[in-house]
Amino acid sequence: MGGPAIAPIPDNPRPHVGRVLVPRERIARRVNDLAEAIEADFDGRPITIAAVMTGALIFVADLVRRLPSAMRIHLVQIRSYPGRAVASQGPTLLAGPPEDLTGQDVLLIDDILDSGRTLKRAVEEFRRAGAHAVRTCVLVAKPAEVRAADGLARADYVGFEIPPVFVVGYGMDFDDCYRNLPDIAVLEGGS
Ligand code: IMP
Ligand code: MG
Repeated sequence: MGGPAIAPIPDNPRPHVGRVLVPRERIARRVNDLAEAIEADFDGRPITIAAVMTGALIFVADLVRRLPSAMRIHLVQIRSYPGRAVASQGPTLLAGPPEDLTGQDVLLIDDILDSGRTLKRAVEEFRRAGAHAVRTCVLVAKPAEVRAADGLARADYVGFEIPPVFVVGYGMDFDDCYRNLPDIAVLEGGS
């Protein structure tokens, strides 16, 4: 709340941004906590960050600036919710990991753990590329009951557990819109 009004998307007038679920101040505090936990666990070893685009964009930008460890940053693109979908259509890999990650400690970062298929697929790709260890970090996780049988059941680091609603903001989108909202809000009226 308190931010500037967001103009309606001209060709998509029905869904709208509803109540704020996680305000920006809480996000900032939690990102600090996550960074401390990650630093402690990696214990000075270099981190290979793999950011799942595009949803993790804002989260990764904030998180990495709180991690003093030596790191490389790779962008991975996996699309599960094409266009106006609000349910996972299954992950499609658009850009995968670099060919050789032998010996590297990878931290895969995504915005949301929902069915878990996206992260499961990403973990498999990074293992295949030879990573020594692959850990996972998400800003928000929907309830474990929504996980698919073939999805990743849990992430190693979770910012917030949220109800099974469709959210936008802080990088998360509906039809590629609303990523720029500073808070996490519930999308209402979408279909
Ligand atoms: P999963 O494969 O079902 O776990 O879906 C994870 C991906 O779907 C994330 O990378 C998000 O991009 C997207 N996603 C899932 N739920 C939402 C949501 O509520 N809002 C926006 N994107 C979502
Ligand atoms: Mg995504």
